[in-house]
Amino acid sequence: MTIWRAPGRINLVGEHTDYNDGFVLPFALAVGCTATVTDGHDGWSVRSVQEEEPVVVRRSGRAHAPDVPDWSRYVLGALWLLADRGVDVPPLRIRVDSDVPTGAGLSSSAALVCSVVRAVDDHLGLGLDDDALLVLARAVENDVVGAPTGGMDQLVSLRGVEGHALFCDMRDTTTRAVPFEPAGDGLSLVVVDTQAPHRHSDGAYGVRRRGCEEAARQLGVRALRDVGVDDLDAALGRLGSEEMRRYVRHVVTENARVLETVELLEAGRLSDIGPLLTASHASMRDDFRITVPEVDRTAESLLSLGALGARMTGGGFGGCVIALMPAESSEAMVAEFPAAFVATAERGAHRLG
Ligand code: GLA
Repeated sequence: MTIWRAPGRINLVGEHTDYNDGFVLPFALAVGCTATVTDGHDGWSVRSVQEEEPVVVRRSGRAHAPDVPDWSRYVLGALWLLADRGVDVPPLRIRVDSDVPTGAGLSSSAALVCSVVRAVDDHLGLGLDDDALLVLARAVENDVVGAPTGGMDQLVSLRGVEGHALFCDMRDTTTRAVPFEPAGDGLSLVVVDTQAPHRHSDGAYGVRRRGCEEAARQLGVRALRDVGVDDLDAALGRLGSEEMRRYVRHVVTENARVLETVELLEAGRLSDIGPLLTASHASMRDDFRITVPEVDRTAESLLSLGALGARMTGGGFGGCVIALMPAESSEAMVAEFPAAFVATAERGAHRLG
């Protein structure tokens, strides 16, 4: 029996920059998914503590994968992909149990996929290295489930470091752990789940992604990561549409905000990052246009209640708002908002047994 746990995440800053080969600064949460893998007799059998029915399929590659409930594709995806790569995956039983709320933008899907990928790799002794684990986890979401996500969620779920945010360069997926312990500065990172329904989120995510790729093409760069803040005005002048100018302005300034936040955290100036978080929210609201009124209102009320900075976190169109608060007011905050909690940076995927 092999048991691994992988966490959900909060992104401190750096939104919609990952698929532009840019920078992100997420951290792993205490909530996560636990995957238990044992030898099976026949086929692959998958059970989720959160779902009524188990799913049992014959062993196969993706071409012969049967139609199965959506949640189980996140689990079986890794097995289908391994089979496609010529791995003789034996009969297995996989049980998953997650306490990451779904639909809140805390990456419940990355927690699920990463816990399974790590547990299966370990159980079968495949010896996949860090890069191969990330590639496999991303392929489950991108190629099997069909979600065109950018890789940040899986990267931090696999490699998060306790007490640190993970500065990730999404061009080469190198990471650096950056100290992030608000309590040490008398602060708390409060997370408020707005519970705003995710409206049109899938389609709108793809629209942004394609828009950014088209802008990079028009600017003749490999990805928007290659446009620096100093080149921004010149780049904007070369773009054909106002929509594209807004996308580029968001991505370029957001990359710069990640770098500035990292610099402040590494200089021990955590209490100074607030304005960067608030500026990130404004950029997502006005330029990238991925917030919704409930989210904007929540960010504003957190600021009026004394937050040093507040922003939506995650893909957008609903989900959670984070706020950096003086620790003494965070309790009142958690009481004020029904679905709020104080988040701390925890470790990434780890073996439990
Ligand atoms: C979702 C995706 C990530 C990233 C964020 C936006 O969480 O899964 O890859 O693109 O949105 O920063």
